[in-house]
This record gives sequence, structure tokens and C-alpha cells, in this order.
Amino acid sequence: MSLPPSQALAAPPEPLGDRLDELWALDPSLTFLNHGSFGAVPRAVRRAFVALQERIEARPIEHIDRRLGELLAPSRARTAALLGVEPDSFGFVVNATEGVNAVLQSLEFAPGDELLTTSHVYNAVRNAMRYRARRTGARYVEVEVPLPLSDLDAVVDTLAARLTPRTRLVVLDQVTSPTALVFPVARVAALCAERGVPLLVDGAHVPGMLDVDVDALGCTYWTGNLHKWCCAPKGSAVLWVAPERRADVHPLAVSHLLDQGFAREFDWQGTRDVAAWATIADALAFFDEFGWERVRAHNRALAWFAHDLWCERWQVAPIVPREHAREVFMATVPLPEAIARRYESPAAFQRALYAEDRIEVPILEFGGRWHARASAQLYNRPADYERLADAVARRAAG
Ligand SMILES: Cc1ncc(COP(=O)(O)O)c(C=O)c1O
Repeated sequence: MSLPPSQALAAPPEPLGDRLDELWALDPSLTFLNHGSFGAVPRAVRRAFVALQERIEARPIEHIDRRLGELLAPSRARTAALLGVEPDSFGFVVNATEGVNAVLQSLEFAPGDELLTTSHVYNAVRNAMRYRARRTGARYVEVEVPLPLSDLDAVVDTLAARLTPRTRLVVLDQVTSPTALVFPVARVAALCAERGVPLLVDGAHVPGMLDVDVDALGCTYWTGNLHKWCCAPKGSAVLWVAPERRADVHPLAVSHLLDQGFAREFDWQGTRDVAAWATIADALAFFDEFGWERVRAHNRALAWFAHDLWCERWQVAPIVPREHAREVFMATVPLPEAIARRYESPAAFQRALYAEDRIEVPILEFGGRWHARASAQLYNRPADYERLADAVARRAAG
């Protein structure tokens, strides 16, 4: 089965400028289709980052000690506005993994308690939940949300059916990593509130991608990366906590500022390089130049161009109806079955594409089927996705 014949393939968007790839330092010999994993920092943002490190190194005590709050203030204010939260309601963390771990460590679990999530969970988060469960005698519970998925709201019913009086925490991805879907977090938050269970939303991919109002989602905890779609330097992420739970959540590295305010406590987790956090404001300013709505419209349209192109070229069915999940800058598409017969593992196929075709794209297994995940950022062009379409089709044909 492929796309229904009545549906025309999505057209690629107009690029937002000429040679935008030159604004990034990515190797021009690579076709880079994996912005989603670690982001990529524009040259201008890197320059701001390095300049800031030099400023800090010129007067370390002044910047890291006496003026830390001042140094972080522009990033704090811009991040708050981007996410729809109060500036002192979130702490900076190095990445979403750390945000999740800080929440897990701050909660008490007893033998028999349950930590619930779905099969679309990011593997590092799965491991963090399993580890915490193992250390406390709690149970890690993962509910299957199989593909293809005809209605994303099914996630709410699936979780509702697995909530028990022993459920102490639900973890839900807002944008899923392996499958690039937008899960109905506000509806799950309402369900969790009704059952009195805290909800941790993993919004790793959300900042910059979705127009989000974290305060209004109704969740208990929310973490997200600014080093992915906002292109801030690596090590830029936040953890937001609802006001009534804020006093109970502490950073993984408890340090001098214990109990001196949620945001301040996270700002100081021992001596560390704070330049990435302080450069978030510069990364956001980089996208201001293009206009956020234009960036979002471009990246979404390009991801969906890739989606339709690959489905059509490989004669595979989409994992969700095409009207769903059009808000994201990524698309996950099943590979032709022949690929899995020719390569030992998804990783082996990914390596072959990199070594032989100079294409960097994540290949992953989900629900017993291999998939490719497209990412779309301003530097990508439709021809990038055509290259992967051809490389896969050629190998599938033998
Ligand atoms: C859904 C999700 N959660 C968490 C993470 C972890 O992000 P980080 O490696 O920045 O901690 C990722 C990274 O891709 C992700 O996709």
C-alpha cells in the first residue's frame, strides 16, 4: 500500500534564502538529514558562544560568581517567552536526559509503585525510568502504541486503561523520537490530573518546533532541549516544574544554592561552563531574522515533502494518516522490507548509507519494522531527500 491516489504529493517549500547551508558549519560533502539527534549550531551562534567563553575567561569570578544571574538573564527571559512560562519557573539543565533524571531522583517510589510510559519513549528515558524503578522496587510499565496509528488520541485511551492506583508517574513524549508524532499531551495531562498522578512531559524536540504554552498544558513536569530545533550550543535545555511541586525538585548535582529558589538552584550545580545556556538568546535571535512562523512553515513543509516522496518512491504506507503530525520538522517512514533482508541491523544500514553515499540519516527499528527518519532544517533542500529516496530504492531493488 502507498499513498492513496487521490492525494497529491506535498510540494517542497520555497527556501528562505540562498545558500543557507553556508550559515552552518556542516560538512558540505554530507547530505545531513539528522538535525533531530543533536541539532547543529549556526556559525553566528558559535561565534557568540566562543566570544562569551572568552569574556568569562577574562574575569571568571566576576562572571561565574557575582554576575551569573545577569549573564543568564537574557536567555532566561527569551526562553520563558518562547515556552510560555514564568522566568523563574524553570531551571537550566544540560539536556533533556538530565531533566528527566532530576525529576526521577526527586520523587520517592516504593516497592509495587508503577512508572508508566508508552512504547514511543526515547530509549535513554526508558533506561532512566527502569533504573529508578530497579533501585526502589517499583515497576516500569510500558504500554504498546502500535503502528500504523489511525488516531493519535488513541494514546489517551491506551494510557487510561493502564493507569492503576499504584501509578506514581506517567512520562509522555510531546514529540516522539522514533516516530516523529505529536502526542496529545494536554488530554493526557487532564487524565492524569483527574487520577491524581503526576505527568512528566518529555518535550525534547518541542522548543522552536511547536508553538507551545507549557504553563497551560496542565502537566507537572516538562523538559525540553534548546540545542535541537533552536540550534543553541549543545548543553542547552530546561526543566520546568508546576508551582506546587517546585520545592521538591532538585538538580542532580545538589550544590551551594539548595533551597534558595528553584531557578537559582539549577543555575549553580558546581563549577561548569555556563556559556551554552547564556548563548540561547543568541540562537533565538538567529531565527528572529527569518521569522519564527516562516521557519516553522518551511521546516514542516519540507519534512512533509520528504515524507510523501519516500512513501511514494518506496511504495510504503504512512505510519499515521497524512493529516496528522504535520506540525513537526521530522517524518518517520517505513523502509521497503527488502532492506531489512539485506542488512544485518538498522545500524549497519545507517553506516552503509554514511560510508557509501555520504548520507547521514537515522535508521531505526520500531514495532518489528525498519524506518528512516527525516529531519528538516533551513539548510536542507528537496534534493537531499531525493538522494536518500534513490539510495534506498537502489538497494531495495538489489
Ligand atoms: C524524545 C526525546 N527525549 C529525550 C532526548 C534526549 O535528549 P538529550 O540527549 O539532549 O538529553 C531525545 C533526544 O533525541 C529525544 O528525542
